[in-house]
Amino acid sequence: MNRYLVPASLLGTAVGGAVLLRDYVAGGTCPSKATIQGKTVIVTGANTGIGKQTALELARRGGNIILACRDMEKCEAAAKDIRGETLNHRVNARHLDLASLKSIREFAAKIIEEEERVHVLVNNAAVMRCPHWTTEDGFEMQLGVNYLGHFLLTNLLLDKLKASAPSRVINLSSLAHIAGHIDFDDLNWEKRKYDTKAAYCQSKLALVLFTKELSRRLQGTGVTVNALHPGVARTELGRHTGMHKSAFSSFTLAWPPTDCMLPTWVSLTQSIDSNAHLSGHSLSDTIRNEALPALWLSVSPVQLT
Ligand SMILES: NC(=O)c1ccc[n+]([C@@H]2O[C@H](COP(=O)([O-])OP(=O)(O)OC[C@H]3O[C@@H](n4cnc5c(N)ncnc54)[C@H](OP(=O)(O)O)[C@@H]3O)[C@@H](O)[C@H]2O)c1
Repeated sequence: MNRYLVPASLLGTAVGGAVLLRDYVAGGTCPSKATIQGKTVIVTGANTGIGKQTALELARRGGNIILACRDMEKCEAAAKDIRGETLNHRVNARHLDLASLKSIREFAAKIIEEEERVHVLVNNAAVMRCPHWTTEDGFEMQLGVNYLGHFLLTNLLLDKLKASAPSRVINLSSLAHIAGHIDFDDLNWEKRKYDTKAAYCQSKLALVLFTKELSRRLQGTGVTVNALHPGVARTELGRHTGMHKSAFSSFTLAWPPTDCMLPTWVSLTQSIDSNAHLSGHSLSDTIRNEALPALWLSVSPVQLT
């Protein structure tokens, strides 16, 4: 027997397995053929990565898409790409910096004034494992952008979402929330040595808990709220760790994100509207109920007013 046969077949199996695994964790193909003509969708952090792909797929299906990004040059470029690719001219760029409460309030005020309806809010933007930065208002950056910024944005848009019901909020969490711990005595990492990974996990757990409590408060309004882990893709999320440029991630992670990672699928599927009991669920993971009231009380009234 050729002495290269066994190593070659092992290598082939490993490569094939890696490709299958990559496709699986990336979310697969979208089962829904739904269109969303006349529906207005806001996607935060839509200039790149999963947010851009979600916006693209929803634009392809006829929605009015608002890309909400902090860098207007990148935002306009993404909107132009999406309009060009889908021939849907109802794709627009708006400024939103989630690290600034002022910017969030300005964005929301403009939406409330200019948009008759908002049917879907995709809270997608995130920063992962950045240095110990703080937002304009002094919050630790990952908690500030990933959770607090979206918390404020969602609450400011709630009346509009209610008036547009059936409508939905989709919070992009991560499997990382499972490792999350919320330190209510030191939310902003001022008393402990900063741990970039733990801070990311904390922010994603906070988003999951927010989802659960908000959905409870919105029962009967026609607004559903879900958290989800979108699948895994080689995006710019790893920019602070260099991970997205590594040979390992080039090989093992999907790029571009699949056309129907969970955010798109959840935005399209009808079953969430007709199954209110699904609201509040993390669509991929378990939720830690016991911390909810504490999170809501300690974060919302004190720090966001
Ligand atoms: N990629 C994965 O495998 C994976 C896995 C689990 C969960 N997720 C979650 O999926 C979501 C999308 O991630 P991604 O992988 O697409 O990441 P990405 O490529 O890094 O995109 C993140 C987006 O968030 C924006 N953003 C960051 N800070 C912002 C701020 N202050 N204000 C407004 N926008 C801001 C970024 O804008 P700039 O380009 O201007 O920085 C960018 O548009 C995130 O919530 C992430 O946690 C991703």
